[in-house]
Amino acid sequence: MVLTRILIGLLILGLSSCGNTNSSKGDEVLPSESPAEKGASLYTLNCASCHGEDGKLGLSGAKDLSESKLKDPQIKTILQKGKNAMPPMSSILETEENMEVVIQHIKTLRK
Ligand code: HEC
Repeated sequence: MVLTRILIGLLILGLSSCGNTNSSKGDEVLPSESPAEKGASLYTLNCASCHGEDGKLGLSGAKDLSESKLKDPQIKTILQKGKNAMPPMSSILETEENMEVVIQHIKTLRK
């Protein structure tokens, strides 16, 4: 009897501490935002001024991103080097990870 109770107690302790480590680990990797949310906010901040929230604004000759057929590596090259009126974005996006979530976000703007 006593042994069972101790075992159950240990089990509950184990489960709750496990949950705690998981959530704190998650916080370190992604501070409060999911990759999709991060991509969307980086886009709003750095891209929507020319491309618009929906990708269709086309300011100063910006391509309609909802019509774009480019593959990830091609998008990445444009983000790194810029193209014509579009300035390079890598120093603004700062990290490889940010670039990746923005690429994933602009693909959600496609039809
Ligand atoms: C200063 C305005 C400006 C900003 C800011 C800007 N762009 Fe652009 N973007 C352009 C222009 C202009 C083009 C068209 C380049 C060309 O082909 O002549 C373009 C083209 C593109 C293309 C190529 C589309 C295609 O199918 O050819 C992608 C992808 C793109 N931009 C993504 C982004 C992303 C992501 C951001 C934010 C990180 C961003 N742009 C920020 C102006 C801008």
